[in-house]
This record gives sequence, C-alpha cells and structure tokens, in this order.
Amino acid sequence: MQVDVLLGLQWGDEGKGKIVDVLCPNYEMIARFQGGPNAGHTLEFDGQKYVLNTIPSGIFNKGTLNLIGNGVVIDPITLKRELDTLKKNGFDPVADGKLVIARKAHLILPTHQLLDAASESKMGAGKIGSTLKGIGPTYMDKTGRNGLRVGDTTLPDFMERYQRLVEKHKSILSHYGEIPDFSEREQAFLAAIEFLKTIPHVDSEHLVNQYLRDGKSILAEGAQGTLLDIDFGSYPFVTSSNTTTAGACTGLGVSPAKIGRVIGIFKAYCTRVGGGPFPTELANETGEKLRQLGHEFGATTGRARRTGWIDLPALKYAVMLNGVTELVMTKADVLSGFDTIQVCTHYLQNGEKIDYMPYDIISVPPEPVYETLPGWHENLCHITEPGQIPQTLQDYIAYLERHLGIPIRYLSVGPDRMQTLVLS
Ligand code: GDP
Ligand code: IMO
Ligand code: MG
Repeated sequence: MQVDVLLGLQWGDEGKGKIVDVLCPNYEMIARFQGGPNAGHTLEFDGQKYVLNTIPSGIFNKGTLNLIGNGVVIDPITLKRELDTLKKNGFDPVADGKLVIARKAHLILPTHQLLDAASESKMGAGKIGSTLKGIGPTYMDKTGRNGLRVGDTTLPDFMERYQRLVEKHKSILSHYGEIPDFSEREQAFLAAIEFLKTIPHVDSEHLVNQYLRDGKSILAEGAQGTLLDIDFGSYPFVTSSNTTTAGACTGLGVSPAKIGRVIGIFKAYCTRVGGGPFPTELANETGEKLRQLGHEFGATTGRARRTGWIDLPALKYAVMLNGVTELVMTKADVLSGFDTIQVCTHYLQNGEKIDYMPYDIISVPPEPVYETLPGWHENLCHITEPGQIPQTLQDYIAYLERHLGIPIRYLSVGPDRMQTLVLS
C-alpha cells in the first residue's frame, strides 16, 4: 500500500476539507502532516457546515482513523475548542477512538502567538498577513531545537520545560516593547494540555508504516497551498512549513517511495489571503464579483480573500513540485455568469515573455498575459452527471488539462459534499 496525498496548488483555501470529506470513505486513515490552526477546512453536508483547524477532515466518516501527524503544530486551546464544537453537534471522535496525535508534533504556546503578533506589528506595511496563530514562532523553536512536543506533556518536568521556554520568549518579547498580559490564556493553555493527555498519543511514523504493511489505505491531507510553501512559495510571504508532497514524508514519517496518488486541488479561479504578490489579482469590480459569488472570506480569520483569474505558470509550477497525478477543480459554479473568462498563460517580466514562476515576483512583479475563453451562464449547483456540464465548461476543463498535462478527475460545483462530480 501507498500513502495518497491531497494538497492545495494555489495560496490555500482551494476546498481541501470538502474534497477530503468526499474521498475519505475510500481510506482507513486521514492524516494531517503540516501546518496548524492557521488552516480552516470547511465541510458541508446535511445542511450543516463545519470548519476544522487542526483535526483532519476524515472525522465524519465512521471507519476512518484521523491522525494529527508529527509535522503539525498544535494549539491545545484550539484543538479542545474544535472537539467541544464537534461534541455539541453529536460527534465525539475521542470517545469513538477516531483521533490520535503524534507525540512528536510541536506545541504552540500562548507566547508563540504573542511573538507572531509582535513580529507582524514591527513589520508595518510589509507584514506577511499572518493568521497570528503562532505558526512561524513555533516552527522557529522546532528548527531552533527549543520546542515543546506533545510527548513532553507527560514528562515529570514538563512545567519546568514550559517555564524555560516562556522565559526565553519573554526576553525576546521585551525587545518589542511591553509584554501583554497572557495569564488568562496561559490558564486555558494548561487546562487544554490536561485535555490533550486524554487523546491517544502515538508514534506516527510507526503507525503509518504499520498501516501500510497491513494493506490499509491512507490519505495525507495538506494544509495551506503550494505557493505558501516555505521553500518554494512567494517567500517571505509564505507559511513556515513545507506544504508540498515532500512535507507529507517528513510530516508523517513515510518514505518518498511509499507515496502513491498525488491529488492536486485548485479553484477555477484564484484567491489569496494576507500579503504578498498575486500576479493575476483583480483589484476591480470583477474581483469583487468573484469575492461575493465565491463567498471569499477566510474560514479561520474572516478576512476578505483577494481574488483573481487562474494562473497557469503558477499551477504548472505547483504540479511539478508536487508530482501531481490527478487534479480536482473546485468552485466552477462561481464562474457561472461571466461572458468571458481570462486565463493567464504567461507573464511579462522585464519585457520578456516567460511561462514559469520567476525567482523575483516581488520587486519586479510579473505582468500576466491572458488568453480569453468563453464563459458559461448555466447554474451548476444541481448537476450530478458529467453529461450535464455545459459545453463551454467542458472546453475550459479540456483546455486546462491540455496545458497542465494531467486529468481533472473531480469537479466541485458547490460547497456540499454531494456537489461533486467524478469526471474520469
Ligand atoms: P480549504 O482550506 O482548502 O479546506 O478551503 P476553505 O474551507 O478554507 O475554503 C473553501 C470554501 O469554499 C469553503 O467555504 C467551502 O465550503 C467552499 N467550497 C468548496 N468547494 C466549493 C465549490 O465547488 N463551490 C462553492 N461555491 N463553494 C465551495
Ligand atoms: P488552509 O489550510 C489561506 C496565509 C496567511 C498569510 C501566510 C502566513 O485553510 O488553506 P501564517 O499564519 O502561516 O503565519 O500565515 O499564509 N495562510 C493561509 N491562507 N489558507 C490557509 O490555510 C492559510 N494558512 C496560512 O494568510 O498570508
Ligand atoms: Mg481554508
């Protein structure tokens, strides 16, 4: 058996949660491998909407185990809140034995969040636009070899380790100015640590490989998107983890030789939330129309998402980096009602026409070169069969497949899990 991977090919919010929920009946395990509560994965079914931040999106399927892998950074307060909300809605994955956490996953402390906020406010206009969930500072402590891990919570000297790290954070924070009072949050954190101990802790590398040896199927669920990858994204306007397929290997403890299908997901257009370059951004009425029709407001922070046309050089880059074997296109319904659709096929940079993502997209922003395609007006929300897809949308799909060189296997035409078509 191999581990299949599903991940975002743009700047996040491509609809990963929805599609993992659709695919999870085919899998015995769903595993998050990177990121943390900066993610907001939305699922809709039976008229209910759920937003998951840390918990994998396989949680609503009976037979699926959900693993929060070692590459994830965990805010125990958020995780507890997510589980409390699920419980109110009649789901108790801990009691049902459907959720396990890697011992090696790192903990987000209240002071990591203060550091995130202090760093962002210091940057002023050039800020990243972080979700302020403490992601960057936590990964910094991980690579700086100072971090606290889930497994540490059961050690007798956990509180001493915690205090030592907090003291270090306080000394850094004092350089930024006055340290805000975090006593209330600290209390909530320590209470949530006790709660965290009630969720089974596992060695994800052993669990994942045992599953594979037993012939059980696993889907790794990405967070964020390829263009937010710490190495290959629009640095420094990125997140602090590897959001690409390689991240699934280090974030779960699985060999690259064991990676199977790589399912790349993208919107029929493009969005970005936070700062940083966005070559095809539409800072105009059309962009506003996309935002309103697509309800493009962040699932985690509620911020308005920036919107624009689809960007083929960026998508090709993402397909290459991830070794994508098949595609999912979401939000095709949002494009209904546009007479024409623009597709960015190339960029112009320094007077040169290029069809790849150049090193510097910040100081010399690449200018998008568009091809105009006919749009469609049919309402797609109720279609259930590929045969009902309007011809112009079929042409759009064929056009994208031709340019990206891989098939679009699933088409999403609405937020509900039922609004998903299998194309091939
Ligand atoms: P994720 O972070 O990749 O899981 O995506 P988000 O949940 O942050 O954002 C995707 C948003 O689009 C959510 O509100 C979904 O309910 C919604 N969504 C997903 N697929 C579709 C679709 O095909 N059509 C429409 N209209 N909405 C969708
Ligand atoms: P999902 O999994 C969209 C963006 C932030 C910011 C940058 C760095 O729902 O697709 P961070 O909090 O990581 O320090 O923020 O990355 N960002 C996301 N944008 N979807 C996400 O997750 C994101 N997670 C982080 O807006 O620009
Ligand atoms: Mg999201």
